Amino acid sequence: MNDLADTPRATPGDAPDFSTLPDVSSDVFTAPLKRPEHVTEDWLEPAQTDYDSEDNRIWDELFARQMEILPGRACSAMLDGLEKLDLGKGGVPDFGRLSEELGDMTGWSVVPVPMLIPDHVFFWHLANRRFPAGNFIRTRETFDYIQEPDVFHDVFGHVPLLTNQTFADYMQEYGRAGWKAMRHNRLKALGALYWYTVEFGLVMEKGEPRIYGAGISSGPREAIFALEGQSPNRIMLNVDRVMRTDYVIDDLQPTYFVIESFEDLFRQTVERDFDRLYRNLSPGFTYANSAVIDVDYVLHRGTQEYFLRGGRGSDADPV
Ligand SMILES: [Fe+2]
Repeated sequence: MNDLADTPRATPGDAPDFSTLPDVSSDVFTAPLKRPEHVTEDWLEPAQTDYDSEDNRIWDELFARQMEILPGRACSAMLDGLEKLDLGKGGVPDFGRLSEELGDMTGWSVVPVPMLIPDHVFFWHLANRRFPAGNFIRTRETFDYIQEPDVFHDVFGHVPLLTNQTFADYMQEYGRAGWKAMRHNRLKALGALYWYTVEFGLVMEKGEPRIYGAGISSGPREAIFALEGQSPNRIMLNVDRVMRTDYVIDDLQPTYFVIESFEDLFRQTVERDFDRLYRNLSPGFTYANSAVIDVDYVLHRGTQEYFLRGGRGSDADPV
């Protein structure tokens, strides 16, 4: 466990060519996804969907619902990004407009994809500052919960933070990190880092945790639960520990990890030696998603009551 406290700086090595789609060797564990016939190897849709009036109404209603909850809970970079990109101007935002505006701010673009895309394609787009966003929007039947990321989750949740230079740089570096994780066959560990930062991360602001993870900010229940719930743990982020920690994909999280700032996240990840870390990681996860361990700097030790009562699928209140 010595290496938990040991954070050597990265040393420059042979950098891969990030401009070309990486090969994935057959022994790398990655989720198999069937590519729809109408897209090529880049998995990009030829064009963004032509949303109808009901689709646009659903966006507007989802937007209004989140904006009742997020002020005072979401971090300022997220709220600033929503405003800078005018995501509440009405209807599903046009990716062309977003790309032009983001391009001027941080060099990112937003590109449409049909569904979840394979890890190596996702890494390649991020490494080239392209954010792949779902091309479809949920329906009334799935208004409250949808497992597959749709355009609301992807654009409302992820895109505002791409206006923040440090976070935008972190996302590109995360994509680049995929090459190394594939070489070591440790995509699971890198996936846990994404999960506990980009999707479900909290950041300290004025002495209090605030939301920056898209999985939290794009849904009403989790935005309150993550910050105010007694059930979940809130623990300061330690990259080595997080990459050994299991996570749930279909319920609220038993643990949220908190960063000091985006600069701190960048330092903890991009500026360290992942080769060494991967060599010390076992293929599976070491810690359960509700575990609190000796090295943790705990802000709130959760009761786990929501999960002990059965979580999603039971009548448990998200308390
Ligand atoms: Fe997401």
